[in-house]
Parts: sequence; C-alpha cells; structure tokens
Amino acid sequence: MAVTPKDILAILAPFKTSAGVEPLKGGYIQDIAVEPHADGLHVNIHVDEVWRGTTVLPEDRTALAAFVLARLKEIHDVRVIPRAKDQANAAKKLSRPGQASPRTPAAVKMIAVISGKGGVGKSTVSINLAHAFARLGFRTAILDCDIYGFSVPDLLQLADPVKTQERKLIPSHVHDIDVMSMKFFVGHNAPIMWRGPMLGKAIRQMMEDTLWNAPEYMILDLPPGTGDIAMDVHEYFPRAASILVTTPDINAARVAERAGHMVRSLDRRLLGVIENMSYMNCPECGYLWHPLGRGGAELVAKSLNIPVVAKIPWVLTGDSGITGLVPDGHPVQNIYRTLAQAIDQMKLLPT
Ligand SMILES: Nc1ncnc2c1ncn2[C@@H]1O[C@H](COP(=O)(O)OP(=O)(O)OP(=O)(O)O)[C@@H](O)[C@H]1O
Ligand SMILES: [Mg+2]
Repeated sequence: MAVTPKDILAILAPFKTSAGVEPLKGGYIQDIAVEPHADGLHVNIHVDEVWRGTTVLPEDRTALAAFVLARLKEIHDVRVIPRAKDQANAAKKLSRPGQASPRTPAAVKMIAVISGKGGVGKSTVSINLAHAFARLGFRTAILDCDIYGFSVPDLLQLADPVKTQERKLIPSHVHDIDVMSMKFFVGHNAPIMWRGPMLGKAIRQMMEDTLWNAPEYMILDLPPGTGDIAMDVHEYFPRAASILVTTPDINAARVAERAGHMVRSLDRRLLGVIENMSYMNCPECGYLWHPLGRGGAELVAKSLNIPVVAKIPWVLTGDSGITGLVPDGHPVQNIYRTLAQAIDQMKLLPT
C-alpha cells in the first residue's frame, strides 16, 4: 500500500501531547516525508521545536513517532525532527572564533531553485517566480548563486556595475525585485577563475554585505550540479527550502532526482518539482505537443515523494530572441502566480 504524507496526517489526527496539545492544530507539523527503503517505509516528520511559546518536550516527539509507528505495519522507522535545533546546530558549525555568524535579512523565506542538470530553466523559473511574488505584494529578492555562469541580470536585462553605500552593496532593483549577482562585480563577461571554497565565500559575502530591502521572499538561483555550491547554500541557509526543476526528458529528470536526494540527505525541506518546457501549444493551430517527451516530473515526484507543483510550457519568444520574464498578459504568468500562492501556503520557515 502506498502511504502518503496525507495518510500520516490522518493517523496523527487523534494524537495529543502530554499537556493535551493537538499538534495538527496550528501548524506545529512543518512537513512530512515518506521514503521507501529496503526494510519498509521511513517517515520523517519535521516539527517546530518551540511552538506557541512552549518548547515541545523530547518525550512528546518520541510519543508522536511511536504513535505513527504503531498504526501502520508498512512503516519501519519514524523520525520527528525539530527544525529550530537543526538551524542552531548549523549556525554553531559555521561560527568560527573571530568571525561573525552569518547575517541574513531578518525573517526572509528562502527558496533555492535547483536541478542538478544545466539548461533546464532554473534561472528562468527563478526570475519569473520572483516576479510573481513581487506582484502578489511581497518584498522579493533574488540572489544569483551561479558565480561562474550568472545569468539573472541578463535575463532581467540589468547591466549596472555594483553600487555601494557606506561599504555595503546596494542591490539592483527591477520589476520590484532586488537582485544581487556576481555579474555586477566583473567587467563585460570577464571570466571568473575561482575554486570551490572561494565560490561559497562569494555567495556568503554577497548575502551578508548587501543592504537588502527586508525581503519577505528570496529566491536563490543555483548553478547546475549537486556540487560545492549547492552544499554551501544549504549549509549557510539551513531553512532554505528547495524546489527542483526538470524538463519532461527522463535523463534530465534522473539528474534532478539525484539533486533532490542530496537535499534530502542534508535533511532540508523539498517543496516539490517543476516541469519546465513541459509542453507546447502550436501558435498556429493550438495543437498540444511534447517536444521533450513526457514523464520527467512524475519520475522525480514519485522517487522523492514530493508534489509536482507546476508544469510550465514553452514560452515562444518569436524573432525578438529576448527571453526571460514572461510578457505581461501571457497565460504562463498565471501559472507562476498560482505557484507563488501555493508556495506561500506552504508556510516556509523564515531564516
Ligand atoms: N519555458 C521556457 N520556454 C522557452 N524557453 C525557455 C523556457 N525556460 C527556459 N528557456 C530557455 O532555455 C535556456 C536555458 O534556460 P535557463 O538559463 O533559465 O536555464 P538554467 O537551468 O538556469 O541554465 P544553467 O544550468 O546554465 O544555469 C534559456 O535560453 C531560456 O531562455
Ligand atoms: Mg541558470
């Protein structure tokens, strides 16, 4: 029998803590992941460590795990993981003597757009999702974490060199989005020849040294690969939730799947998978076709037990060759709007 996070929620409905608190009421449970293993299903339940001003006792977490474990024979292991503790450990690991701990804008919800695979549309999704959040009225920012292959400024047609104020960096601002990117520091397409640890440092410095305009949502546009940068980003920003991007192509999906497993192995939240370049409507006859095949998002969703949160069609740019933000009034804008609204409903934890 397939067990879903919804089933776990249903099982938990009658559960009460020792103080008579019902965890399903009021958002104590942050998210639930069910993973198939050789010995049965493993369930990870992320919870708030401090909830409604009270620390939830370890005994309550143990009781909650036992409650789930006792009710379904398919389940072999249940872990109840407090989020705040997670973050405290990560912060401890990061703060070395004589170094300031990472400073990020207060109460920003971060969404890392990742894929593993190159060219699937991470940057395009990042800017359009940011635009949708901005249009919904949220203060929104993008941190371009692609240090070598930055493309966010080009996609948003930003060419400014970096500006500073009192030794702080000023983000560029366009379409109500604050943007910080390595592009603003290097000359016209000058190459950057840095090695792994320096790349991570650059991201951290851009984050810490920028005078952000108190964003409520920040999109992190990640480079391809599940390498150093993705690991650094997840270490620096432990509350950043990730969203995977794939195309319908099965080979792309397998790479995205591996990136998703990397996020899981770090115990970070995975919101879902977006299938980009999913289908195309012929502008002449309206015929719907799938130039890259079908099934990529479903493969990733099934393997990681996450939802397909959006399917974005090809956006044809005609002869202009200008790509980037979906033009005003285009139906795909609604897809991004619905996606931003759905993510807002997921109640991400602010960093
Ligand atoms: N839905 C879409 N319809 C049409 N073209 C798209 C779509 N999404 C992305 N593209 C185009 O595909 C190319 C790659 O997109 P993008 O740069 O966003 O991918 P990426 O995953 O960020 O790449 P990289 O791995 O190099 O960072 C770009 O030319 C972009 O305009
Ligand atoms: Mg990119």
